[in-house]
Amino acid sequence: MAVWWVLAALLCLEVGWGYQINVSPAVVESSARVFLEEAEERLMNQCTTTMKAAWDYQTNLTTPGRSRLINEQDAFKRVQEESREQATRWRAVDYLFSDPDLKARLEAMSVAGLSELPAPSMTSYQRVLSDMTHIYSSASICSLHHPSRCGLTPHAAAGINEVLSSSRNTEELAHLWRAWRDKTKLARRSYNSFVDLANQAARTSNFKHKGNLNLVEYGGESFRVQLEEAWEQLEPLYRQLHAYVRRKLREVYGPRVVRERGPLPAHLLGNLWGQSWPLPYLLPRLDIPPLDVTPEMKRQGYTPRTMFQIADNFFASLGLERAPASFWRNSLLQEPDDGRAMVCSPSTWDFCDTEDFRVKQCTEISQDDFISAHHEMAHLQYSRSYRHQPYLYRNGANPGFQEAVGLAVGLSVATPRHLRRMGLLRAGQEPSYPAQINTLMHLALRQLPFMPYARVLDIWRDGVFNGTFSRKDWNCAWWDLRVSVQGIKPPETRTEEDFDPAAKYQVAADLSYTKYFVAFVLQFQIYKALCMAAGEYDPYKPSRSLHKCDFYLSTDAGNALKSMMKLGSSRPWEEALEVLTEGRETRLNATAMREYYKPLEEWLKRDNLRNDEFVGWRPDGEHCLYKKPRGRSCDFT
Ligand SMILES: *[C@@H]1O[C@H](CO)[C@@H](O)[C@H](O)[C@H]1NC(C)=O
Ligand SMILES: *[C@@H]1O[C@H](CO)[C@@H](O)[C@H](O)[C@H]1NC(C)=O
Ligand SMILES: *[C@@H]1O[C@H](CO)[C@@H](O)[C@H](O)[C@H]1NC(C)=O
Ligand SMILES: [Zn+2]
Repeated sequence: MAVWWVLAALLCLEVGWGYQINVSPAVVESSARVFLEEAEERLMNQCTTTMKAAWDYQTNLTTPGRSRLINEQDAFKRVQEESREQATRWRAVDYLFSDPDLKARLEAMSVAGLSELPAPSMTSYQRVLSDMTHIYSSASICSLHHPSRCGLTPHAAAGINEVLSSSRNTEELAHLWRAWRDKTKLARRSYNSFVDLANQAARTSNFKHKGNLNLVEYGGESFRVQLEEAWEQLEPLYRQLHAYVRRKLREVYGPRVVRERGPLPAHLLGNLWGQSWPLPYLLPRLDIPPLDVTPEMKRQGYTPRTMFQIADNFFASLGLERAPASFWRNSLLQEPDDGRAMVCSPSTWDFCDTEDFRVKQCTEISQDDFISAHHEMAHLQYSRSYRHQPYLYRNGANPGFQEAVGLAVGLSVATPRHLRRMGLLRAGQEPSYPAQINTLMHLALRQLPFMPYARVLDIWRDGVFNGTFSRKDWNCAWWDLRVSVQGIKPPETRTEEDFDPAAKYQVAADLSYTKYFVAFVLQFQIYKALCMAAGEYDPYKPSRSLHKCDFYLSTDAGNALKSMMKLGSSRPWEEALEVLTEGRETRLNATAMREYYKPLEEWLKRDNLRNDEFVGWRPDGEHCLYKKPRGRSCDFT
């Protein structure tokens, strides 16, 4: 390494002070390439070791396993920091390089994550982050009516969200909503320091503020416009759903609790953050049970393994590669019964060595897990298809792509058409129109409220990082956005003593939410592109509506998908999308999402009209009290 450094330093001298030194740019460039390749090799090897330790721990939760994982993670972090630091120095002379790919890979290596802060700041930064996640992770609350029921959190099974979606007792609902925020608001003081330190780190890497750094993986600041446009496209549909849900809530709680033209009370929505509204009584037809092939799967003797074999067949039918023998040998497809504890949430693993890929899923014989098996196998397909790329490009085209592909495959597999092709649904069991609307509503209640929620999180964090929102007004700025973008209001007036954004883990841990918004929009763009390639979508034929499409057996769809996936992140994501859509699309675009939900949107419009429901909302009171200038002393400024 040292040798390359001398060369680069010499060149800087030449540039800086006009010394004549005979080092040709070609020599520097080839040195940079050697550095890059060695650094990638080191990253790759440490990545493999770390993934192995993580797999061993997650599939067998033991204390020694945990220490081994922590050690490997630390080692990985060190290798990453080292590579980043050196790559940054090479970039200082990259104007000498003729190979654009070399420049791009050095850039990718140098911008991964937050740059180092000077010593005391870096320590504070890490402490502040860990304080915030600790406050969140150790928070728990008690039930109002059953005070002995304590330890409630939003993440455990039978936790806060389960009560929120089943209880109709407004006192209990408001209590849970408030109590969680009383615990998590303690993060405000730390968040204050966090914003300063994060901005300082972002500025060290030449970003105006942390909000801009967060957009690097999407191509930079201009991506904000695309996010906003996609949301504007969805807004009319969201407002129809909002009006319909308000009427349903009013039927349950009465017009004094749910005002005719007001925002929705956040505690009544079945979810602690109002980001999905999974209330069973919101379905239009309660007498029609949802489509569920679980009994038929059991009758036919499905096992976890057959479910994954069928998923593998799905991709083979598109002309994609089958999972390798090592996948079947190493994966964990059902919960072991030897008494060990493990992390059961489904995930797909890339061990960074181009050969070892696995899935971990505690598969139950159910329709949900059948779809999940396909979702995980989609991740596997994606990761394997870019395995020949250089290490730094072995990612989805942007952070939303991997998830979007998994979701798009899930849409196809969940169609009655596909379940019939699998012999899980008999011919003639075609769902009626009301049943289709029910199914679309079920999905819409989980997806659409998420979109404005994700926007609020992004816009709020941007405003905090760029300094538009004054520190003493952070909570009221949050509620202004919640009311105006989501049409949701708090159960009671909030103040600047509260800090409601911190009720969400991704705020406390400073994790990106943009990627979920992007994944939700993209899944429909990808789904539509594959359906068009398969000849399964025709906007002018109801029998070929987007929500009915199954692209199974289509090698044309498979080729389109393959051409996109194999790029990994080697090209800007717009190009990956362009390849997939045969040049039709190069932007985030919610048109496909609107098309998918079109039958539901038409139904909602008719239903709202028939009930003479006001579409939209007006603030109906003061939802948050701004701190008066020169009022009581403020803790946070
Ligand atoms: C789980 O880890 C423990 C401790 O390292 C080990 O003794 C045990 O054999 C492991 N179990 C399995 C199934 O690998
Ligand atoms: C700062 O962020 C807010 C909220 O996202 C936005 O409205 C505003 O335009 C941004 N200002 C600047 C100078 O970027
Ligand atoms: C979105 O896609 C549709 C067709 O798929 C196109 O007509 C429209 O112009 C696109 N919008 C943007 C903003 O790219
Ligand atoms: Zn996934």
